[in-house]
Amino acid sequence: MSEHFRVHGGARLVGEVDVVGAKNSVLKLMAAALLAEGTTTITNCPDILDVPLMADALRSLGCQVELEGDVARITTPAELSFHADSEAMGKLRASICVLGPLVGRCKRAVVALPGGDAIGSRPLDMHQSGLEKLGAKTWIEHGCIVAEAEGLHGAQIWLDFPSMGATENILMAAVLANGTTVIDNAAREPEIIDLCLMLTQMGAKIEGAGTSTLTVHGVTELKPTEHRVIGDRIVGATWGFAAVMTRGDVRVRGVNPHHLDLVLEKLRMAGAEVTVYEGGEDEGFRVVMDGRPKAVDFVTLPYPGFATDNQPFAIALSAVSEGTSMITENLFEARFRFIDEMIRLGADARTDGHHAVIRGVEKLSSAPVWASDIRAGAGLVLAGLCADGATEVYEIFHIERGYPGFVENLRKLGADVERVTS
Ligand code: EPU
Repeated sequence: MSEHFRVHGGARLVGEVDVVGAKNSVLKLMAAALLAEGTTTITNCPDILDVPLMADALRSLGCQVELEGDVARITTPAELSFHADSEAMGKLRASICVLGPLVGRCKRAVVALPGGDAIGSRPLDMHQSGLEKLGAKTWIEHGCIVAEAEGLHGAQIWLDFPSMGATENILMAAVLANGTTVIDNAAREPEIIDLCLMLTQMGAKIEGAGTSTLTVHGVTELKPTEHRVIGDRIVGATWGFAAVMTRGDVRVRGVNPHHLDLVLEKLRMAGAEVTVYEGGEDEGFRVVMDGRPKAVDFVTLPYPGFATDNQPFAIALSAVSEGTSMITENLFEARFRFIDEMIRLGADARTDGHHAVIRGVEKLSSAPVWASDIRAGAGLVLAGLCADGATEVYEIFHIERGYPGFVENLRKLGADVERVTS
């Protein structure tokens, strides 16, 4: 038995939708709980499979983890296991984020390498060279990355590229290192700021969160804390694109609109009227679209550039816009494989290296399509909303790794979408 989504195109999405906590923040925050003995509480956790998988991974290291609704309580013991190669670790793409905390706490770590990913190669050279600068030796052995250090010391680290994962691992090792670490060309994503905030609440001394130079003054120990995960800007963007593509009117709540400044600007360029709501319960934005979107170009770059995770939505939007769009992918080359599925849906698209040229068509044409990763899957659903007939989207487990209640939310907004068991 397998499940897929059946999407009948044509509906205009109208209404309100709540955004959950950020997938790409919560897993790192859960890993950060390893850094302090005692109970750390994380709220606004999204209801996605990766959260219980991460909970299992932390349990295999000796933590007790309780998940209740959107709250995760992680009790970290004085002595941790440093072997992070359990079954849960192998299934979790973000498992690598326990490497830094384990090296920081235990001075050694054996972490199962994350499996291959449909979005392209995910090297770890910057994670390794950063930890080596801090005094660790690292190597790959039997499918695991191994790191060992007599003691960690502060260092000046220049990253070749502002990698999120490398910044997070180096940061989480450096907070307990002896002396000051400077990470230059650090990632500036809101999820990095969220991690810095939680680490600071735990007693870490970090300057420059949200800039490309992070300065970390090592401390001898951290204490547990309580922290709320930021709203998921990629999920927020998904709804924004869906509103424009369906010529709808969608109010998105639970996400900081400034984390989507460039996305919202692109939606305005496509012809949408966008209102932002700052702070408090109302935080979020509203996108109202009237008429056919106009073609816009997109270039993916690290934050504050246009996120690679939003690239499939940019392609889906371009496919139905008036005019020709150029999409440039600078992070994960294999993400353009999604275009083959879009072509099945009638998109007029071609790629050359890391550029794609898309000539918008009036309407897409329904077809069976296969999701290859979370964002590509969501992009196919958006495209299906603009196709005539019923688009069947397969391999939906990818989508559900990032979008809890996706079908329910779409239906609430008026989409004709169902989950089909076959
Ligand atoms: N890179 C290296 N060497 C390294 C690390 C990264 O060459 O040691 C390269 C990568 O190949 C890529 C670029 O640097 O070209 C950026 O990779 P980054 O390390 O920033 O990505 P990541 O931390 O592995 C996170 C998100 C991804 C998101 C990217 C880029 C998590 C769990 N994943 O991955 O999210 O696409 O940052 O923003 O946080 C998703 O949510 O669907 C997803 C894939």
